[in-house]
Amino acid sequence: NPEENEYIIGFSQCTAGDTWRKSMQEGMEREVSFYPNLTLIHRNAHENSKLQIQQIRELVNAGVNLLIISPNEAIPITPIVEELYNKGIPVVILDRQTTSKKYTAYVGSNNLEIGRAAGHYINTLLKGNGKVLEILGTSGASPTRDRHAGFVESIAQSPGIQLIDKFHGDWEQEYVLKQLPAMLAKHPDIDLIYAHNDRMALGAYKVCKQAGLEQKIKFIGVDGLAGPNGGIDLVEKGIINATMLYPTGGEEAIRTALRILRKQPFSKENILETMVINPANVHSLKVQSDKILSQQQDITRQQIRLQEQSNLYHNQRIVLYILVFL
Ligand code: FRU
Repeated sequence: NPEENEYIIGFSQCTAGDTWRKSMQEGMEREVSFYPNLTLIHRNAHENSKLQIQQIRELVNAGVNLLIISPNEAIPITPIVEELYNKGIPVVILDRQTTSKKYTAYVGSNNLEIGRAAGHYINTLLKGNGKVLEILGTSGASPTRDRHAGFVESIAQSPGIQLIDKFHGDWEQEYVLKQLPAMLAKHPDIDLIYAHNDRMALGAYKVCKQAGLEQKIKFIGVDGLAGPNGGIDLVEKGIINATMLYPTGGEEAIRTALRILRKQPFSKENILETMVINPANVHSLKVQSDKILSQQQDITRQQIRLQEQSNLYHNQRIVLYILVFL
């Protein structure tokens, strides 16, 4: 619709670099490319909540019409989100949450449910009996709190399942590689490692493999990303036993943002579907997700070609103008 208003969406991302965040960003950009009246500008806080607050202010000062925020830590980011909300600036919270309901909309999965599903699956996998080590995400991030709480709640119903220890792997493999050897030495009888994401689960597998324990210990992760070394790939290769799907929500966040900007009806809570990816369903999921990935790459290629064509058209018009009028 050529009559439609121009909108600028500001996106405040908590951390960059990992494939899950890259996939989120690509999803957003792909969705934005369908709407010529939408511009997306983003800032990355590199896991620093103070920097994230500063960047949110910069985006507001740049005149964005709406903000999408993935809060690094729940407590420090809450006041600024409440402030924007009270001022009437629309805010879509994506993936990680704040501690209040003062936001325009939320897009993401329910991490409490993910924790519960992990606990339930672990109980089945260990046949009701075994010792579990938990590797958590960064403290202060809402998925860490919820993936832990849901898990603890769920295994409380299985007296044979014991959470023997836990540590923060801060979402990244490198911290697991550093800390896990000491944990294995302390607890030689671990049956399963539940990691809050697949990158940490892969790190745990690598450490256990070094110690010759990779057959004895089972591994569960979260994310279930498509593509090489993503969770789906890791389950299919038998490196980890299962992963809980955690969709990035990039496209959905843009769609929700657009509905808010256009003053169309929208839901405040947009809870994305999750599921257990295990050896029983991983093959068909892999086939599907590979197909989706290749279609997404086709869309990106087509968008680039369209842009080239539009640039060419623009240049030709300038040449024509010069020829006719000068
Ligand atoms: C990506 C990530 C995911 C995890 C999510 C939680 O940066 O670490 O692996 O599921 O953040 O917010």
